[in-house]
Amino acid sequence: MNVRMGLPVLCLATLGAESAVAHEAGDLILRAGVSVVAPDTSSSQLVLDGSPIGGSSADVGDNAQLGLTVLYMMTDQWGVEVLASTPFSHDIEADTGDLGLGIVDAGKTKHLPPTVSLKYFFSSSESAWRPYVGAGLNYTLFFDDSVAAQLEGVLGTGTLSLDNSLGLALQAGFDYQFNDNLMLNASLRWMDIDTDAEFVFDANRITTEVEIDPWIPTVSLGWKF
Ligand code: NI
Repeated sequence: MNVRMGLPVLCLATLGAESAVAHEAGDLILRAGVSVVAPDTSSSQLVLDGSPIGGSSADVGDNAQLGLTVLYMMTDQWGVEVLASTPFSHDIEADTGDLGLGIVDAGKTKHLPPTVSLKYFFSSSESAWRPYVGAGLNYTLFFDDSVAAQLEGVLGTGTLSLDNSLGLALQAGFDYQFNDNLMLNASLRWMDIDTDAEFVFDANRITTEVEIDPWIPTVSLGWKF
């Protein structure tokens, strides 16, 4: 055998020979990793004291946090999963449109996106690779909302509140089992997260409806108990 070919062939052989039993009925799997919430934001026009501001909109920035999932396999193919995380923190920008202030820092919010999903795993329980798809419900809890200094510089001290959101959550991904316990996971989620934002100042009130609808890529390590 060509020596240079030896190592890749050995690696492939190791992957191919993987015979770990993965994801059987009754398994409990805990995964921890990095999740990025990347909003695909669209918003209604900002409404200032009841009048829409032409050309205005709101935008929500990205954030990465620790994502945790607990998966329970009801059968070899079907599992139910709960997603939790450390709080995501997002900056909110506003394009002030016809108001003429340009794009300003409008505020900040934190949120927790607990999600319950039903997941279907392809391939057999003997396979180290378990691709899956899932669907479920997300509840997004917004808290610690605050108005940015830049906007307060224009309108005075204010408060921000965002309505919590309940919506559909979809995902696709895979687990790759290294041995009886340890696995690698990668997934992409999409969540329908919509909220009404309300900025209240001494003399003014600004409202907007925001569709955050984020994509959430995650890479994590899992442990099967
Ligand atoms: Ni939406």
